[in-house]
Amino acid sequence: MSHGPASPMSSRRSAALKGEAAIPGDKSISHRALILGALAIGRTHITGLLEGQDVLDTAKAMQAFGAQVERLGPGEWTVDGVGVGGFAEPEGVIDCGNSGTGVRLIMGAMATTPITATFTGDASLSRRPMRRITDPLEQFGAQITAREGGLLPVTINGAEDAIPVSYRTPVASAQIKSAVLLAGLNAPGQTVVTEAEPTRDHTERMLAGFGATIATEQTDEGHVITLTGQPELRGQQVAVPRDPSSAAFPVAAALIVPGSEIRVAGISRNPTRDGLYVTLAEMGADLLWENDREEGGEPVADLVVRHSALRGVSVPAERAASMIDEFPILSVIAAMAQGETVMNGVAELRVKESDRIDAMAKGLRANGVEVSETRDSMTVHGKGEIPGGGAPVETHLDHRIAMSFLVAGLAANAEITVDDGSAIATSFPDFVPLMTGLGADLG
Ligand code: S3P
Repeated sequence: MSHGPASPMSSRRSAALKGEAAIPGDKSISHRALILGALAIGRTHITGLLEGQDVLDTAKAMQAFGAQVERLGPGEWTVDGVGVGGFAEPEGVIDCGNSGTGVRLIMGAMATTPITATFTGDASLSRRPMRRITDPLEQFGAQITAREGGLLPVTINGAEDAIPVSYRTPVASAQIKSAVLLAGLNAPGQTVVTEAEPTRDHTERMLAGFGATIATEQTDEGHVITLTGQPELRGQQVAVPRDPSSAAFPVAAALIVPGSEIRVAGISRNPTRDGLYVTLAEMGADLLWENDREEGGEPVADLVVRHSALRGVSVPAERAASMIDEFPILSVIAAMAQGETVMNGVAELRVKESDRIDAMAKGLRANGVEVSETRDSMTVHGKGEIPGGGAPVETHLDHRIAMSFLVAGLAANAEITVDDGSAIATSFPDFVPLMTGLGADLG
């Protein structure tokens, strides 16, 4: 995605939010549906695909590797795949825009096919660490060059005769796990990934759904995933469930704006994604879950959320992976709670689309909220209010920082502005109409 001019946005204290929020498709699952569709034989039919820029960049990349990708209508796409090991060498550079998930998973998917590809991205992605991916991919036999510090652009010469790998992830990361598993698809024998804490398991679920043999067990070593290489993946029907990380923004808004009551249909209850909702319940949030069911292979339920008096809590480090993208918005909710909210084991936030601890701490402080931080923790000293009215918050091309502060402004004493809301389109293109439809005063 080429980055256009900055687009400042602001939000103001709003009357009670009411209504139904129709959340778009899950970003993680959308990327994986396109990539596995491209690696399968035959046609994959996807409904509910998130049409955010990150996912559109992955769709374009899959085309560059030889898959046929077609949009039939809103959220409805087909992918005619080339099979495991069937990727063609792309003619141009693969530009993954703002998307860490896109670039890291695609690197894994091509690293065990004997072709060469060069990956690039926007200013945010070009600052993010790639060695965590290129190190294990080299173990499969891929040859890789990167910019100083292991940064993009990265060029990968895929392994001619890949060897399967046993890899323990050095940090809790579904992107690392997924890159290794996708590389393992075209290696003979068994590829094994061990993680200390379980991270989101969409890759494992979807690989099984496409016909791979994959097993997960909890051992003394940790969470161990074993994939049998060189399966024949078959095109599937994929109904992408809604994104719990996007749902977090209207849910937070309803919790902090007095008098609100909204309903959000189809939120994932996958235990590898539901840490925010567990935390909110501990804070005293009024959350009513209804209609538990399965959609697109994921457990989901509808949520009715009402404005609530909240108290600060300590979020244990073991929960961090299951809510890693939700800490920015939790820190806003924490400011509106009474007492300290301590977020432990969150060092990974420093290498997301921005350094999210730094970005949230600076923006909250500028708007009158007391925050303290260490390298791997953040504490918000909640006083039940956000004074607001500070200088524009710097968002550093980070969609979740932008949305978090726009939600904060809905309950703040004075307007909150962000310097640039353009990155919101990477994950939640309809954020503004969805929020204004509920009664939020932002734009
Ligand atoms: C994602 C994994 C997480 C998350 C990202 C999406 C995925 O990153 O922050 O938004 O789809 O696998 P890490 O795996 O680096 O923690």
